[in-house]
Amino acid sequence: MSFAPGSYRSSLPDVQRVFWRTRLTRMRCSLDFSGDAAKGASLFKTRCAQCHTVGVGEPHKVGPNLNGLFGRKTGLSEGYSYSAANVNKGIVWEEQTLFEYLENPKKYIPGTKMAFAGLKKDKDRNDLITYLKESVRHISSKSCSRPLILFSFRALQCA
Ligand code: HEC
Repeated sequence: MSFAPGSYRSSLPDVQRVFWRTRLTRMRCSLDFSGDAAKGASLFKTRCAQCHTVGVGEPHKVGPNLNGLFGRKTGLSEGYSYSAANVNKGIVWEEQTLFEYLENPKKYIPGTKMAFAGLKKDKDRNDLITYLKESVRHISSKSCSRPLILFSFRALQCA
């Protein structure tokens, strides 16, 4: 295969960069739980947002700000005053633990002060978790996508 000289060749790395950036965005953290993020967003708005924020540095409400939730242990949103039950649960929040918790929070963490009955439909929880992974991204997503970033750097260097 032969390349035309000049502009075509020098524009190749850009094409590659765009390609990998797009792939990265698509693949990041959504390898197993791929629900409908848009549905999840509206569920969050109607079921969670009166008590929770998701953005970096947003204030706590009745419940803690959820930024950086994935990969973090229970009860560690900075500056929020949790119940002992929530802190002592001691599990790491990720897809599976959230999936169980959100079905019936009071069963998963007896003594929680979160006044929420739960989302009974698997699909709702799946959609919500898909949305949450995008929206609470802070510390968590970095560790999740690191191997992919390294991988695409390699690809760029070889281009
Ligand atoms: C009526 C208010 C309220 C609603 C609605 C609510 N929460 Fe909560 N949530 C809380 C409170 C309060 C806590 C702290 C519980 C404790 O300390 O015992 C909490 C804790 C949590 C935690 C644990 C955080 C941590 O750092 O350990 C998660 C995760 C969570 N909520 C997610 C959700 C999601 C997702 C929804 C919507 C489906 C939701 N909550 C709906 C009030 C609420």
